[in-house]
Amino acid sequence: MSTRPEREAWLREAGYNVFLLRSEHVLLDLLTDSGTSAMSAEQWAAIMRGDEAYAGSPSFYRFESAVRDLFGFEHVIPTHQGRAAERILFGTVCSPGDVVPNNTHFDTTRANIEARDARAIDLPCPESGETQEPHPFKGNMDVAALERLIQDEGAEKIPLCMITVTNNSGGGQPVSMANLRAVSKICRAHGIPFYIDACRFAENAYLIKLREVGYEQHNVADIAREMFSLADGCTFSAKKDGLANIGGFLASNDARLAEQEKDLLILTEGFPTYGGLAGRDLEAIAQGLREVVHHDYLEYRLASVRYFGEGIARAGVPIVQPPGGHAIYIDAAGFLAHVPPLQLPGQALVAEFYLEGGVRCVEIGTVMFGRRDPATGAETPGPRELVRLAMPRRVYTQSHVDYLIEVIVAVWRRRHAIGGFRFTHQAPVLRHFTARFEPLSGSGT
Ligand SMILES: Cc1ncc(COP(=O)(O)O)c(C=O)c1O
Repeated sequence: MSTRPEREAWLREAGYNVFLLRSEHVLLDLLTDSGTSAMSAEQWAAIMRGDEAYAGSPSFYRFESAVRDLFGFEHVIPTHQGRAAERILFGTVCSPGDVVPNNTHFDTTRANIEARDARAIDLPCPESGETQEPHPFKGNMDVAALERLIQDEGAEKIPLCMITVTNNSGGGQPVSMANLRAVSKICRAHGIPFYIDACRFAENAYLIKLREVGYEQHNVADIAREMFSLADGCTFSAKKDGLANIGGFLASNDARLAEQEKDLLILTEGFPTYGGLAGRDLEAIAQGLREVVHHDYLEYRLASVRYFGEGIARAGVPIVQPPGGHAIYIDAAGFLAHVPPLQLPGQALVAEFYLEGGVRCVEIGTVMFGRRDPATGAETPGPRELVRLAMPRRVYTQSHVDYLIEVIVAVWRRRHAIGGFRFTHQAPVLRHFTARFEPLSGSGT
């Protein structure tokens, strides 16, 4: 517990960037669901079995077999987390001037594509922009826009097409099987490899079961297998639906590509049977993959997220509807309608939630996805202003969520007195992690 004056001092010291706070100064930590899950007794037991042989460890083979069972890909390359898989994938297939479409690129995915001097293009479906509409699959890709892009750019400039499940930067919304099938068909017709950013595949599969006609009676693991059967490969951060605190992988059915990727892996991550992870980490992921497709676990997880979303929506707080799998996304532009995008309304809300109740969350708006022109210093706003409150898996209880609802609603009631922020420091890439800010005059902060 902390007092408001303590939190004011800590936040000021952190340059109003909650990434720079000490986590012991945070009461409820909803900054991310990545690597923050509680591991099960079975996972801790599996860790004890970890075999730390440098090459060919049985822990690797258990990991590989658990991945193959759900994802179905032949070549499985472990990495220390998702972005390492992205760097190796794009470092292998992407050349300057290439174009990579996605429903919405996550920040590290975009940054790894742009680091190759290629362009990362977001093609979200039109419904994704209507935050209040309860469309069941707002994570879908705009299939017509993909066809136009292929026609305009030429298939030879598109080394791969990606879909992120669930669509994290697009409000945590799921992608339907029908959309995956349509995108897969277009990609195959043009000879473009189709990849899935699979971080939250189990939550997406469960939302397909709940919302897509024809899947009501399907088992979640079978839905996941069908999703991946439509793709040529995937990247995965095991820090989400691997229920592990670290790890990831890159997988495909392309033997020649996998060879090149392993060469790059050895350069920076490690030998292909550990890829920057300890044997015990591989064991935790293998066990986590078995647990994450369990119906009771998924039902409880999605019910908790929905309970939180409905609790604040009832008080009038604008959230991205319907609640998705791992987080509630507040529409910061609707919450602070008097604060324009370049005064960073999402950042202002993140600061207020911390000051009000020690709750930490993240801005997904102009701070994360806006741009500063390096020549003129002019700022361009991001595509939308959201604040994400991500729920770590198997950590918080209903009473934590009740407290959370009280905090958000208290800030909502005094929203008219809250002002904006401006940058005082920013890095040229992935600026949200280390940026520093100051409140504009008139701010209630
Ligand atoms: C959709 C998505 N892709 C990729 C990543 C990158 O994974 P990692 O943080 O393990 O590098 C994340 C992490 O949050 C993510 O949410």
